[in-house]
Amino acid sequence: MSFQNLLIENKERIQYIIINRESKLNALNKATLAELHTAFYEAFHNREVGGIIITGAGQKAFAAGADIAEFVDVDAEGGREIARQGQTTVFDMIENGNKPVIAAINGFALGGGLELAMACHIRLAADNAKMGLPEVTLGLMPGYGGTQRLSWLVGKGRAMELIMTADMISAPEAHQYGLVNHVASQAQLLDKAEEVLNKILSNGPLAIASAITAINAAFHPDENGFETEINEFSKCFGTKDMKEGISAFLQKRKPEFKGE
Ligand code: COA
Repeated sequence: MSFQNLLIENKERIQYIIINRESKLNALNKATLAELHTAFYEAFHNREVGGIIITGAGQKAFAAGADIAEFVDVDAEGGREIARQGQTTVFDMIENGNKPVIAAINGFALGGGLELAMACHIRLAADNAKMGLPEVTLGLMPGYGGTQRLSWLVGKGRAMELIMTADMISAPEAHQYGLVNHVASQAQLLDKAEEVLNKILSNGPLAIASAITAINAAFHPDENGFETEINEFSKCFGTKDMKEGISAFLQKRKPEFKGE
């Protein structure tokens, strides 16, 4: 499938999803969000794809937020629909995906852009990146899960301050806060993202999917995460991959996981 606002590139088992609206700092308009839904759906269902790196086109932005121009005539009901639709079809979908998703934050990640990065499983930032949730400067607040995921990642006090002041933080600050796992030079960002993802891809893919499910359960108060862990742990025992992993260890060889 070809897209108007995204570029898709494949490098062995890694799929790159690149937001490609450079002239608008990769702002997430409706069309881009719809394409992101399709692209992630396809990546999660494509057996050739082991994991995904999402980044922004150009040197300046990962994504500078939701497309503000589309908010002009929206009323309260429309706002509810934007948030619900976006959360369900893109942000929650990525978070609950069955394959690892890494955000390579190559510049501004603001508003919906940072919310997108926070829906990914792991975040890496280039040393020029700037991150924040500046919606209140527009008389708005985050609506794509930002209040929840920022609180999970950096704690309530820091989330309160970042959202209410609308401050942007640098990559080193984001690293210190735990918002990003690694900081790399602009030139090294994608290499570092590939290094992390390739390490993950050398492990059992069904076990990775189960781990994602169980870790996510820790952040959903209506779910018993320990029970989820028991179920996912049990599922691993029913896989050929687990038998292969155990045999390989005992035979002192590298495992060959098939995702079965
Ligand atoms: N929605 C729509 N368009 C956006 C956008 C957004 N979130 N962010 C940037 N753009 C557009 C600008 O309108 C401009 O378009 P134009 O050239 O047609 O006028 C283009 O992208 C370049 O942005 P510009 O503001 O000129 O770049 P800058 O380097 O001066 O500033 C930012 C960069 C990121 C500080 C600034 O663009 C900004 O504050 N963006 C909005 C961030 C935001 O509030 N996000 C939350 C949205 S809910």
